[in-house]
Amino acid sequence: MLELDYTNVLESAVHTHGIPKIAFEKAAESSKHIVDDIHRAHASGKLGFGDLPSDVNALKAVIDFARSHALPNVLLLGIGGSALGPAALDAALNPPKSGKRLIVLDNIDPDFIRDSLESLAPKDTVVNVIAKSGVTAETMATFAVVRRWMVDAVGDAKARERFVVTTDPVKGDLLAIAQQEKYFSFVIPPNVGGRFSVLTPVGTLPAALMGLDVEALMNGARRAADRARRPFFENPALVAAFIQFVLERERSKRILALFAYSQSLWKFAFWFKQLWGESLGKKMDRRGREVYYGQTPTAALGVTDQHSQLQLFIEGPNDKSFVFWDVKEFRNSLPIDHPFAKFDSMGYLERKTIADLFRAEKHATEIALTEAGRPNATITVDRINAEALGELIMFSQYFTAYAGEFYDIDAFDQPGVEYGKKLTFAMMGRPGFAEYNRKVEEIRQHRRATVK
Ligand code: PA5
Repeated sequence: MLELDYTNVLESAVHTHGIPKIAFEKAAESSKHIVDDIHRAHASGKLGFGDLPSDVNALKAVIDFARSHALPNVLLLGIGGSALGPAALDAALNPPKSGKRLIVLDNIDPDFIRDSLESLAPKDTVVNVIAKSGVTAETMATFAVVRRWMVDAVGDAKARERFVVTTDPVKGDLLAIAQQEKYFSFVIPPNVGGRFSVLTPVGTLPAALMGLDVEALMNGARRAADRARRPFFENPALVAAFIQFVLERERSKRILALFAYSQSLWKFAFWFKQLWGESLGKKMDRRGREVYYGQTPTAALGVTDQHSQLQLFIEGPNDKSFVFWDVKEFRNSLPIDHPFAKFDSMGYLERKTIADLFRAEKHATEIALTEAGRPNATITVDRINAEALGELIMFSQYFTAYAGEFYDIDAFDQPGVEYGKKLTFAMMGRPGFAEYNRKVEEIRQHRRATVK
C-alpha cells in the first residue's frame, strides 16, 4: 500500500525550512471542506477522474478490443495528457522482452516521425489516435502522415481496421473522422480533463494492447480514490497537497523536484510534471485576483542524478521541495559477484546486492538533503506492478486536485496553453483564427536581436 513519509519536511528535521507539527493538527480541521468540495464536484458530475475505477463497461470494452487486435506494435499519436500517461505505463510495466512495443509520436519533429515509422512494419501495427479536443494540430497532422503510410502499405480497406480513435464522445473533428472512416473508437468522458485521463481508454487501451493487467491497474486506483476521501491523517494525497502548498507559499520552495528512485518510474515523473505544472500554474484565482501561482516541477532520477543534479540540490539555492518516489522491493536483488574482492573499491561489496547499494544511496541522499535543510518527503509503493501504478496515478491526481483547492484556483483548465494553440492555427491558415494573425504579423515586424 502506498505510504507517505513526511518526517523530513517537519521543522524538527529541516528547521526554519520545515513545517511545525502543530500546523498539521490545524490543517486536519481546516481542510475538511477541501475533501468535501472535490467529492461534491464528483457527485454532481462536474469532475469524473476519481470515479473512473467504477466504469467496468469502459474497461471491458478495451480488454475485448485488445484481445481482437493482438499485434506486436502500438503506435500512439497524441500529445500532453493524451500521451504522457500511456508512455509512463509502458515504461513502468512493459519489459523489453514482452514482444510488445509502444511507440509514442508526441512530437512533430519530422525526422523523429520518419525514423519511427521506418522502424515499424505497418502490418504488425495498430495505430491509436488520441485527442480529447479532437482538433490538436500536432496530433491531426501526424495522423494524416501515418494514415498515408498505412494506406500505402496495406491498402485503404485494411488500413481502416488498423486505426482506433480515443476522443470526446460528442465533439471534435477526430470523432467525425472516426465515424466517417468507420474506425473503432473509445470515449474520454467530458468531465475528465486531458491530464487527468490516463485511467480512461487514453491509458487503458494502449495498456491493454500491450498486454498489461488493466484490471489490477484499476484496483490500485480504486484503493487510492477511497483513501483520498478519508480524514486528513489517513489521507496521503491531502497531507501531501498541504505540505507542498505550505512549502511553496510560506517557505518559498518554488520548485518541486520529483526524484524517482526507480528506473521504472522515470516516465511517471514526466507525466506528473504535466499534471502538477498545468494544473497549478495559474494567473488568476477563483476570486478573480491575479496571483501567478505555481510550483515548477522538475524531474531527477535516482541514482543517476546523484552524479548530476544533486550537488545543486544540496548546496545551491534552497528554493526546492523534494518528493522521492520510492519502491520497497525490486523484482531482482542482483547479488554482486566479487572476483576482485582484494581491491578496496570492491571488497566492501562482498555479499551485498545491487538492491542494497541502491537502497543505501537513496537513504544517503535523503540524509544529505535533510542535513542541508532541504525539505523532502517520500512516497513509497511496495513494488512496481499494475496495481501500484494505478495507486500512484490516482494518488497523484487527488494530490494535485487538493493542492488546487488549497490555492483556491481552477486546477482543471489551461488557458495559457490555449492561446499558443490559437496562434499556431492562425499561422497555419486555419479558418476562424484570422484575428490572431494581427499579433503574428506585428511580431514579425520586430527586428530580431541576433548574433551571427
Ligand atoms: O490537460 C490537458 O487538457 C492538455 O494538456 C491536453 O492533454 C493536451 O493539450 C492535448 O490535448 P488533446 O487531447 O485535445 O489533443
